Amino acid sequence: MSRTVPRSELEAFRHTVLGWYAGHRRDLPWRRTRDPYRVLVSEVMLQQTQVTRVIDKYAEFVSAFPTVQALAAAPLAEVLRVWSGLGYNRRARSLKAAAETIVAEHGGRVPDTLETLVALPGVGHATAAQVLAFAFGTGVPFIETNIRAVYLHHFFPGESDVPDAEVLPLVAATLDADDPREWYYALMDYGTWLKKTVPNPSRASRHHASQSRFEGSPRQARGAVLRALIAVPGLDVAGIAAETGVDEERIARAVAALMAEGFLAADGGRLRIV
Ligand code: ADE
Repeated sequence: MSRTVPRSELEAFRHTVLGWYAGHRRDLPWRRTRDPYRVLVSEVMLQQTQVTRVIDKYAEFVSAFPTVQALAAAPLAEVLRVWSGLGYNRRARSLKAAAETIVAEHGGRVPDTLETLVALPGVGHATAAQVLAFAFGTGVPFIETNIRAVYLHHFFPGESDVPDAEVLPLVAATLDADDPREWYYALMDYGTWLKKTVPNPSRASRHHASQSRFEGSPRQARGAVLRALIAVPGLDVAGIAAETGVDEERIARAVAALMAEGFLAADGGRLRIV
């Protein structure tokens, strides 16, 4: 059930966000370019890793692989070496596969439509919408964690269990069709600030609640182990930790439990699903 918010309230909201942003805009390296390849690299890095950790890696990665052709042609081992430290190695693998698809099927140009972008490996709706906004100036509504925090804080105060399906129409109704790039930067920066300032602005989210119970749980670690071994059979504990971004101690506990239950077998340190 989406709610109807009066136009004046939507305008006031935009005014608040843009007013705040005018004094707090973050100058981040990937905001200095409109090169769709660089924007894609940065957004894949930012999917699960904090801005401060991405800054150095982004510079290193685009200097090692300055073009989509360079990334497509690079050996995977080299890509993983440069990626190391960011965790979730599957993202690096997908990014390289996406570069190969872009070279093979799109003449080396990052696609500029939502449908074509989401067909690339490792690119979901939010990443595709970010590439469209930041590289091509095309506004498509999307939600990521900081944007969600902003809308929940302003439009759903004190509520709980709000699904993204209720938030998305408000993102659409407040979108800046002329300058989606700056508007989304403003929302992300404001959301990051809100999360540091207001006690848990995302607690109203249905998605956030389930995620926080899951985050850090043994169930999450077990799931991560199994997914990593499906993707890359034969990994050891350290390899799974690098692949998933979950710390090694939790992976080791999950592996021990899965072995005791007969789900996994070890061949030396190399693990496989049985
Ligand atoms: N600027 C551009 N994309 C961003 C993102 N995903 N997170 C934070 N800042 C950004």
